[in-house]
Amino acid sequence: MLLVGGEGTRLRPLTLTTPKPMLPVAGTPITIHQITRARDAGVQRIVLGTAYRADVFTDHLGDGSRLGVEIVYAHEETPLGTGGAIRNAAAHLRSDGHEPVLILNGDVLSGVDMAALVDGHVATDAAVTLHLTRVDDPRRYGLVPTDGDGSVRQFLEKPQTPEEIVTDQINAGCYVFRRDVIDAIAPDRVVSVEREVFPALLDSGALIRGVVDTSYWLDLGTPWDFLQGSTDLVRGVAPWDGHQPADFLVLDGAQIAADAVIDNGSTIGPGSHIASGALVRGSVLFADAIIEQGAQVVDSVVGIGACIGAGASVRGAVLGDGVVVRPGAQVAEGERIDPGTVIS
Ligand code: GTP
Repeated sequence: MLLVGGEGTRLRPLTLTTPKPMLPVAGTPITIHQITRARDAGVQRIVLGTAYRADVFTDHLGDGSRLGVEIVYAHEETPLGTGGAIRNAAAHLRSDGHEPVLILNGDVLSGVDMAALVDGHVATDAAVTLHLTRVDDPRRYGLVPTDGDGSVRQFLEKPQTPEEIVTDQINAGCYVFRRDVIDAIAPDRVVSVEREVFPALLDSGALIRGVVDTSYWLDLGTPWDFLQGSTDLVRGVAPWDGHQPADFLVLDGAQIAADAVIDNGSTIGPGSHIASGALVRGSVLFADAIIEQGAQVVDSVVGIGACIGAGASVRGAVLGDGVVVRPGAQVAEGERIDPGTVIS
């Protein structure tokens, strides 16, 4: 199962027009990176749990045959949260009560060995196996301390004080559930796996295993993480089978002046134009962006069809689709500009 129904509020304004899992990271939607990795790990059939902008997924992914998997859709008329989405998608599973179901949040880039996670889950007959990762600053995340044998002790909400940081292990958004555990989730209502399903399982004495994995991991929930993920893929820091690491990536139909400078893992979207003397550094340009003469785009995300005028400067900013930055204008660090806005 792939959970892709969230509104992606932290990634606005990019997610006003495209749902987060379909945003192109290094030119390819996050969902497609995940489907490809799952397929290569042996997954043949995927239930996509959709809610927000489900049409974008069906239009792009269809029945999955182009990607070499079978895709079916479990749509929620109103978003049911992560646990509710899993319960809703269960109607489309073919596995029986004891079989493992691999579940991925739709906004994570990771190098975890999915097949090994499933094998370990089956071998220990756990109710749920969680992929855990270690982070330097756990304050943004829910913490998951484990015992020496890997069994999860607790699920802790985002820690507020240093004393509350009892571990650096966090839920990495990749789970294996025993099928009957999914069927026991309350149907047709909003349920959170982290706040309801997992704590209730621990209270009931069920075994939840945490598997700490040290391979690449990044949650692409904010624009700055999204940029990091994209530049990491381009430069070969994040795993991407078949990709040759490079300093930048230029997609089909993009035109770039010979003296433009593009670097630090930037991606130039299909059909974009980069004029003479322009600089694109550590940034992601979606399709059909126009960067005019001498303009500078640094550590920024530029939406579909946006235009940065001659000599303008955009640094550490997020521009929605169709934004126009007039020649010579400056977009300051941290700005998020709504689709279609004109900045002078
Ligand atoms: P924010 O609004 O920025 O927090 O993003 P989000 O809505 O994507 O929420 P979050 O990052 O917590 O979601 C984790 C994963 O679960 C993402 O892949 C979401 O698409 C998915 N998800 C979250 N809520 C729902 C839901 O109600 N239904 C479905 N099907 N998926 C969901």
